[in-house]
Amino acid sequence: MAKNAQKPLVKFYSGEEIPLELHKVRIVQKLHLVPIERRLEALREGGYNTFQLNTTDVYLDMLTDSGTNAMSDMQLSAMMQADDAYAGSQSFIRLKQAVEDVLGKSYFLPVHQGRAAENILAAAYVSKTSLVPMNYHFTTAMAHITQNGGRIVELLYPEAYVINSSHPFKGNMNLEDLEDCIQRTGREHIPYIRMEASTNLIGGQPFSVQNLRDVRAIADKYNIRLVLDASLLGENAYLVKQREKEFMNKSMGEIIKTMTDLADIVYFSARKLSSSRGGGICTNNESIYKELEALVPLYEGFLTYGGISIREVEAMAVGLYETLDETMISQSPTFIKYLVDEAMKMNIPMITPAGVLGAHVDAMSFCAHIPQSQYPAGSLAAAFFLISGVRGMERGSISNQRDEEGNETYADMELLRLAVPRRVFTLSQIKYVLDRLHWLYDNRELIGGLKFVYEPTVLRFFMGKLAPVSDWPEKLMTKFKADFGESL
Ligand code: F0G
Repeated sequence: MAKNAQKPLVKFYSGEEIPLELHKVRIVQKLHLVPIERRLEALREGGYNTFQLNTTDVYLDMLTDSGTNAMSDMQLSAMMQADDAYAGSQSFIRLKQAVEDVLGKSYFLPVHQGRAAENILAAAYVSKTSLVPMNYHFTTAMAHITQNGGRIVELLYPEAYVINSSHPFKGNMNLEDLEDCIQRTGREHIPYIRMEASTNLIGGQPFSVQNLRDVRAIADKYNIRLVLDASLLGENAYLVKQREKEFMNKSMGEIIKTMTDLADIVYFSARKLSSSRGGGICTNNESIYKELEALVPLYEGFLTYGGISIREVEAMAVGLYETLDETMISQSPTFIKYLVDEAMKMNIPMITPAGVLGAHVDAMSFCAHIPQSQYPAGSLAAAFFLISGVRGMERGSISNQRDEEGNETYADMELLRLAVPRRVFTLSQIKYVLDRLHWLYDNRELIGGLKFVYEPTVLRFFMGKLAPVSDWPEKLMTKFKADFGESL
């Protein structure tokens, strides 16, 4: 650790290692812990889909870290100096400079959020004969590729699918499979290879820099573009520093640049990477920039704001520099590790090693009695909200879309994601999550399945409505009230 770096984990007199908050709270938001009866009503109204809940019914919002990380005092003060102009804004110039300083790319296209970047890349490069190899899909990345007629293929090593593993880099691309895939498909059908930092849907698991170097070498061999989804790049860099020998004494800035230097195109959701809104695409290749440039005014807005409010442009710039601060980036992964380690002590099945953006509960094992056709992860998300007021997100088969024939495509993993946005929750709130999870695990037989009553064809997990297959929510509520003697 560098000379004056602060430690996010502090040893207490008792010997216990506790994640310590290296920030203080200066603006607060009131939360609501409503009775379980109201939570059941809220679930019914929202079709047992946690995306459909209102925050007035939610105690801890662990749905996502997207747009919900705490902003810093520096970001908020920068927002006040925004230069609000349609074209030629100085705020944009500051952001462009931050992209160059932090990500090392001199051409930058702003977009309103991450999926807008995916839309532009897919619109520019994907056609009906395209196949995009990736370490693993993200829902929106895949949706844009398939909307443009293309297909994706996921190329992870088998270790990535092992729930309890000590593998430090489960997000690594399977190099043999990549080369095999390129030879079988033909390089002309592969518009780009996509690498996702801190691979979201397998539990926020990083790839190593060495793996990215190896992917780059294959991309060079076949002359294929390498695209890096950098939405969770800061956390991937932090875990590289923790886990990859070559980088243990390197700064966050050096690690981030080493990774971005390897990609032809870097895109990101600033909602995760740096602030609360926005996104971008950047490159050092002028012809790539020219190929994408015209699509930004078409879909997003003029090239100096890209659909982002200028205040947020300022916050993005400051937030990008803040990703170089290990103290800031380490907070969420350190709290997640605490949550995962403590849950494992209670025998609750969790994805290990602990990753980033949230703790991931293995619903397939937690709800082993619920068949995949009744969505164990969705059922667990609903049950956990019911008994705790904590809103997590289903990351399992509901998040998948049906195939062309309308058949379910069951997810490799059925996960309940409990997001831990940066510098938002306190340790006592994390302890509450652990306590209620523990109770639910002891009463897991009471959780039942769900079925769709309204199922949109695209991104069904956002708007879909479900219903319980039996009266299990009522039974779970009755048991909760009997055990706790009250409704909270
Ligand atoms: N790529 C990754 C790795 C993401 O995690 C996300 C969003 C996106 C792209 C799309 O970005 O939301 O700004 O359009 N992830 C959020 C989540 C939604 O909750 O995991 P966006």
